[in-house]
Amino acid sequence: MIPLTLAQIARVCGGELRGEPDAVISGEVVVDSRRAGPGGLFAAVAGERADGHDFAAAAVAAGAVAVLATRPVPVPSVLVADIPAALAALARYVVDALPAARIAGITGSVGKTSTKDLAAQLTERLGPTIAPAGSFNNELGHPLTVLRADASTRYLVLELSARGLGHIAYLCGIAPPRYGVVLNVGHAHAGEFGGLDQVARAKGELVEALPADGVAILNADDPRVLAMASRTRARVVTFAVEAHGALVRAADVRLDELGRPGFTLLTPEGSAPVALRLHGAHNVPNALAAAALARELGLSLDGIADGLRAAVARSRWRMEVHQRPDGVTVINDAYNANPESVRAALDALAHLAQGGRGFAVLGHMAELGDTSRPSHEEIGEYAARLCDSGLADSGLAGLIAVGGEAAPLIDGARRVPSWTGEALAVPDGAAALEVLANRLKPADVVLVKASRAASLEGVAAALLGEAGR
Ligand SMILES: Nc1ncnc2c1ncn2[C@@H]1O[C@H](COP(=O)(O)OP(=O)(O)OP(=O)(O)O)[C@@H](O)[C@H]1O
Ligand SMILES: [Mg+2]
Repeated sequence: MIPLTLAQIARVCGGELRGEPDAVISGEVVVDSRRAGPGGLFAAVAGERADGHDFAAAAVAAGAVAVLATRPVPVPSVLVADIPAALAALARYVVDALPAARIAGITGSVGKTSTKDLAAQLTERLGPTIAPAGSFNNELGHPLTVLRADASTRYLVLELSARGLGHIAYLCGIAPPRYGVVLNVGHAHAGEFGGLDQVARAKGELVEALPADGVAILNADDPRVLAMASRTRARVVTFAVEAHGALVRAADVRLDELGRPGFTLLTPEGSAPVALRLHGAHNVPNALAAAALARELGLSLDGIADGLRAAVARSRWRMEVHQRPDGVTVINDAYNANPESVRAALDALAHLAQGGRGFAVLGHMAELGDTSRPSHEEIGEYAARLCDSGLADSGLAGLIAVGGEAAPLIDGARRVPSWTGEALAVPDGAAALEVLANRLKPADVVLVKASRAASLEGVAAALLGEAGR
């Protein structure tokens, strides 16, 4: 963070100073006391399991200069009424003090983190970049990320999430973006929004927040995203895998044996071959979005193509492909799940399983509201149809639905009479492992995927651990 005195922080946050006014904060602002370090500020947040105020002294002992708190603590502090609001005010103050930092916001229903990680690996070629770790994209994570910026920062590549109308507008107020990328409008959190049109309204708040000299970067393959062109004053730039008129495109998309996409990147400056290190065809639009953004920021075609070729997965549990010594491949995509991302992962499974058998261990997709049961059935059916789709020789050998809420997947799969695989509902991850232990053979591929709440990454870890014994 840019150095600020405690008195300045109290003033910016509208808080009550309880400490040395001239004490300087120059380190990181954190909400996890274990991450508190010299020169930093610890924001005490009351979570479900723990209350940060109980760790105020520990944070200061670890080097934090002071604590941002909502009730008195026995260490130097600034008392505020609301921590997220205080962090938002502080973050806005910091970005206003850093006019040389160019701010890009990325939103969409799926792929924000993947695209943000790709985009940051491109802008790092242009200059010092701040991007969130993982999915720090909400009212807490967003300001905390912004607060990491300092005078050396040239690019802020931010991920913006929404669970309702107004959320993205709020985040844009904290760090006003000049560049806004909208990836897609899908079913993630659609239950909370009340349908896809509402999701589109919410995601479009990003382009509404852009200034006239800003750039809206829109996915021309998604009609709801393209329609956002009419909601912005900014210049509109498009990317697409399919749509021909888009400015940045991909041609000749193909997947290697591990499901990593290769394509020809097409831009107004020319074309370049790209082979991604990431897995799954769904990373092609993500890469195009990152390319379109980097291009606007001034990265050359060669820089973009080199950057995409070199880019690695920075955030965990998204399409991680591991090969066990016994020849079984495990796809750990257990970070989260919604209809779009499960379809993308099943497509990747079908591709990887060519020549072997595919098993899908799927937990439930959360936050789908009224459409939850039919959505699970549709995904079950989609999984069972993979064998008919020509994507795989052998199709899906087993669909294992973990937990009661995922059970409708099985009903969906049974709608496909031509499917000869096994469909099993099991209560938990341990039961899924037991089922797999009796079935897996060399050359088989297992996909593990569910919403965050199901924590199926443990299943993937156990599958990989077993191979080590
Ligand atoms: N363009 C895409 N289309 C479909 N699925 C995708 C796409 N991009 C990523 N995914 C898949 O969606 C899941 C989430 O990816 P990612 O974390 O990048 O999304 P996100 O939008 O940041 O999610 P969150 O809302 O949880 O922050 C992963 O399983 C990933 O493989
Ligand atoms: Mg994310």
